[in-house]
Amino acid sequence: MTEQKKIYLGTNTKMYKNISQTECFLRELNQLTSDIGREKLELFVIPSFTALANARNCVPEDKILIGAQNMNWEDEGQFTGEISPLMLKEVGVNLIEIGHSERRHILKETDQEINKKVLSALNHSFKALLCIGETLEQKNFHTSNEILRIQLKIGLHGIKEEQITNLWIAYEPVWAIGVNGIPATKEYAAEKHSIIRDTLKELFGSDKGKSIPILYGGSVNLENANDLIQMPDIDGLFIGRSAWDANNFNTIIRNVIPLFYSKK
Ligand code: PGA
Repeated sequence: MTEQKKIYLGTNTKMYKNISQTECFLRELNQLTSDIGREKLELFVIPSFTALANARNCVPEDKILIGAQNMNWEDEGQFTGEISPLMLKEVGVNLIEIGHSERRHILKETDQEINKKVLSALNHSFKALLCIGETLEQKNFHTSNEILRIQLKIGLHGIKEEQITNLWIAYEPVWAIGVNGIPATKEYAAEKHSIIRDTLKELFGSDKGKSIPILYGGSVNLENANDLIQMPDIDGLFIGRSAWDANNFNTIIRNVIPLFYSKK
């Protein structure tokens, strides 16, 4: 691990928290974490679309980045129900989450569509958080590594070298996510992060590949966060349920930062 690397900690509130709940959560989180130097920490929250404008206005951008949970790749057009990059720019969104497992598996998004979204997000100078991960069936067939490589190779196809600084990856095994999820062991997570790191180096060269943050997500909680963050190639945590209470999230943040910075 290189010394100047930041730790990336964030949450996606999924289809929970309305506008006022999002504002309350963000104000509290900001108050609890404002003393933590941001040269060390990239903190981000990804609320629902209807809360985005208020979310962006209620906490400073240099403290908490605000992300959108999805985005269409076109600037405008006949796409009823979709949201364009220009619309997200207008409300001051910083980051676009792309290819979350619920979108891949419930809403049937393909790697090809995800690739168009990644390219569009980067072309509009957003940070792009590409989520990848294998299903339980793929894990049981021992095809996880191939699946992760395919998701990366298609999802990141055509990215320009200068856009890599805005690219983040989240490894979220589908079987580990949500109320019925079983968290990955730290060893399993580290093994997959290493496959992802190798693939990124293969795609973008060693230095660039090393610089891309890889976050782990899927049933991260107060108990397992400390172990996960100490593993090689885990640059951050992407947390659902355990981060939706600002106090809980703040505890995780404060626990993991020193551990991350003391890892060799
Ligand atoms: P979880 O969600 O932490 O509640 O499992 C993770 C995610 O969906 O990103």
